[in-house]
Amino acid sequence: MDSDLIKLVNRLQDTFSNLGGELDMPQLVVVGSQSSGKSSVLENIVGRDFLPRGQGIVTRRPLVLQLIHTPLPDPAAPTYTEWGQFLHVDKRFTDYNEIRKEIEQETFRVAGQNKGISKLPISLKIYSPDVLDLTLVDLPGLTKIPVGDQPSDIERQIRSLVVDYITKPNSVILAVSPANVDLANSDALKLARSVDPQGRRTIGVLTKLDLMDAGTNALDILTGRVYPLKLGFIGVVNRSQQDINSEKRMSDALESETEFFRNHAAYRNIAHKNGTKYLARTLNQVLMNHIRDKLPDMKARLNTLMGQAQQELNSFGDAAIFGDKNQQGALILRLMNKFAHDFVASIEGTKVDIS
Ligand code: GDP
Ligand code: NA
Ligand code: MG
Repeated sequence: MDSDLIKLVNRLQDTFSNLGGELDMPQLVVVGSQSSGKSSVLENIVGRDFLPRGQGIVTRRPLVLQLIHTPLPDPAAPTYTEWGQFLHVDKRFTDYNEIRKEIEQETFRVAGQNKGISKLPISLKIYSPDVLDLTLVDLPGLTKIPVGDQPSDIERQIRSLVVDYITKPNSVILAVSPANVDLANSDALKLARSVDPQGRRTIGVLTKLDLMDAGTNALDILTGRVYPLKLGFIGVVNRSQQDINSEKRMSDALESETEFFRNHAAYRNIAHKNGTKYLARTLNQVLMNHIRDKLPDMKARLNTLMGQAQQELNSFGDAAIFGDKNQQGALILRLMNKFAHDFVASIEGTKVDIS
């Protein structure tokens, strides 16, 4: 995540909590058919290797991932700068491989060994100086045919699980569709449209561009000529199964992805509007717009508090004109005035331009 945005959001969150309010940030939810690349996309956004990924049904419980911004530790008393904490076990995880194993074990524990699904979410918090306070949700993929221990109405169950998460107006939907399957069959887009008919809070993510048949490409989709979404479609190339098996590093994968778009005859001209980095920047923009939408509320709340402080000051009355109380009141008012001034200036002076 962009560090300026992290600083701004943290400042706003502090300010807002001083005002007795809360800056509720949107929640990012991935939706798509099984093995479309949802977990891979989410992992790339977070920039850490920690999610179970793979062919077949891997994600079998919702994973609610809360990123929590923590200040850098005091250099005089250094401690971990970044760690994970599950709700179900009282332990600090500092190794991402262990986090992945714990997700796997906890999936097995509740959803069984044989491809079963559970609605019960796994809750994981990641504390880091490099993240925004943001919630991301990884979900099981949409399927049609029950396998293993799955109930006969598995399709309906997963659908209702997904709908629970994406119906919230505060959620931003990452509708993931693999480029090697016809978009007309995209369950992700179908479901996203059912809760966001105008396509206002849905970002189309097209994965597996590297796996398309020779001679075909997704240029029309990526340039918005096939399916209308206000936030558009972004193409990505995640790590392949072979990359996962050979433990290809995320940084190397990002580099290969950049090369892919740059060198591809069909995508060369739109390379700057695709890829994981561009997706992350687009998300930043969506978050900024969300915050912008909240500003009128914040200002109104600030004005109310100012009014209250003024009234309180007036109520001290003549008796206390030269008393301590009045001086305190005046001081409070002065501080609040300054605070309000700084606050509004800090927001209005914030330039957000990611293009
Ligand atoms: P999910 O089931 O939707 O969460 O998908 P995963 O992220 O677990 O990925 C499923 C499989 O597809 C894994 O083997 C990934 O390596 C592979 N995969 C995902 N995205 C891509 C991609 O863009 N290109 C290639 N070649 N493989 C991908
Ligand atoms: Na999968
Ligand atoms: Mg998954």
